[in-house]
Amino acid sequence: MATLHEALKPISWLAGRWSTEEGRGTYPNIPDFQYHEELEFICVGQPMFNYVSTSTHPEKKTPMHQERGFLRIMPGTNKLAFMVSHNFGLTSLEEGENDEESKQIVLETVSLSRMSFAKPPAVKKIKRTIKLVAPDTLEVVLFMETDNTPLTEHLKAVYKKVDG
Ligand code: HEM
Repeated sequence: MATLHEALKPISWLAGRWSTEEGRGTYPNIPDFQYHEELEFICVGQPMFNYVSTSTHPEKKTPMHQERGFLRIMPGTNKLAFMVSHNFGLTSLEEGENDEESKQIVLETVSLSRMSFAKPPAVKKIKRTIKLVAPDTLEVVLFMETDNTPLTEHLKAVYKKVDG
């Protein structure tokens, strides 16, 4: 792996590969579900992490939700922009801050676009927190709003650092 860019120092704790210990999904009109997910935050020498998320069904091992993107930092600050493309036909731009003391990132959508033939309902907002709860443990909680459900929790997952 390339050396971590200087600008990423405040969020250096994210670098590497993470694997779920527990991932659970919920939403008002769908049955609760469990998932397995691998996250990668890789620096190739630029002031950003290249981001990969791949989730799979815990028993069938079939692919579920996938995300690819970039988590950029404004050098010299804790200001973040997370550009993500989701495999079900959505792209989101989320912005927010890293709290250096508590090692917690909060991100909220500033824009969303959706392909014309994506399955309804349309996502209207995403809010996620990414928190280092122990040196090798990450917790991610994601809330979403759709055109028929107000902002409600969709995902909560705990990951262990597996590499990097
Ligand atoms: C359902 C969006 C991440 C698994 C949904 C629905 C939306 C959505 C809009 C339909 C809800 C409804 O019918 O009211 C998103 C967004 C995500 C995300 C924006 C990330 C930012 C994930 C992840 C998983 C997942 C990581 C699991 C690996 C599911 C499942 C359903 C669902 C199993 C119900 C079945 C279905 O409608 O396909 N999600 N999702 N989602 N999501 Fe997610």
